[in-house]
Amino acid sequence: MARKFIAAGNWKMHTSIQEGVVLAETIASGSRPSNVQTILAVPFTHLTTLQKKIKASSKVILAAQNCHHKESGAFTGEVSAQMLASIKIPYVILGHSERREYFHESNQLLADKLRAALVAGLKVIFCCGETLDIRKAGNHVKHVQTQLVESLSGITAAEMKQIVIAYEPVWAIGTGETASPEQAQEMHASIRAMLQKMYGKRVADNTSILYGGSVKASNAREIFAKADVDGGLVGGASLQAGEFLQIINSF
Ligand code: PGA
Repeated sequence: MARKFIAAGNWKMHTSIQEGVVLAETIASGSRPSNVQTILAVPFTHLTTLQKKIKASSKVILAAQNCHHKESGAFTGEVSAQMLASIKIPYVILGHSERREYFHESNQLLADKLRAALVAGLKVIFCCGETLDIRKAGNHVKHVQTQLVESLSGITAAEMKQIVIAYEPVWAIGTGETASPEQAQEMHASIRAMLQKMYGKRVADNTSILYGGSVKASNAREIFAKADVDGGLVGGASLQAGEFLQIINSF
């Protein structure tokens, strides 16, 4: 199995640059297993500064949290994938549920953003996940599959090498409520089965699928132990260096 283990921190709209530098440097200087890739998804304003501060540590790489689907143009306030590539940021998160909810990002728009990111040479952490209502109705697996099929429709097997999937049940994000390891495994296995159908076994086996939603030092180990969980996308707990380092060391 060649897929990577990944601990990704999603800082969302938190930290001043001064706080961000201290946080990133503390995380970068901590010890970690050599087979775990650490990714920090930080605000746009922090990217170049943090890149300089942590470049000595190849184990920690940076991500943006979003990008626009067009290369350039009259889109006040937006940042394009090309711009991120021009400052050599390797990753971007796309499709986070907060973007879907507050900025009305549809599966189709996300397909366009995915294409833009790949054209620019970025790797993508692509998020999916269901709301509580959808889960209660028993439609969670189908919902997540639809999100992925509609957004990955133009993506080739070769391009899947640039994509990491993050399953984040909306009801578990920032709520303190975590999917059980069994619930995470069920969804991850179904995502992997779907990738196998779309792209074949090799792509399915090599795609990292992260779990996100109230991952903490106290629950990371049992979630990451599941066969189809290849790491986590961590919000709140990634803002505390000690807690996040424990998560990184939970594989
Ligand atoms: P959380 O956020 O860990 O604070 O629940 C996860 C995410 O939104 O990526």
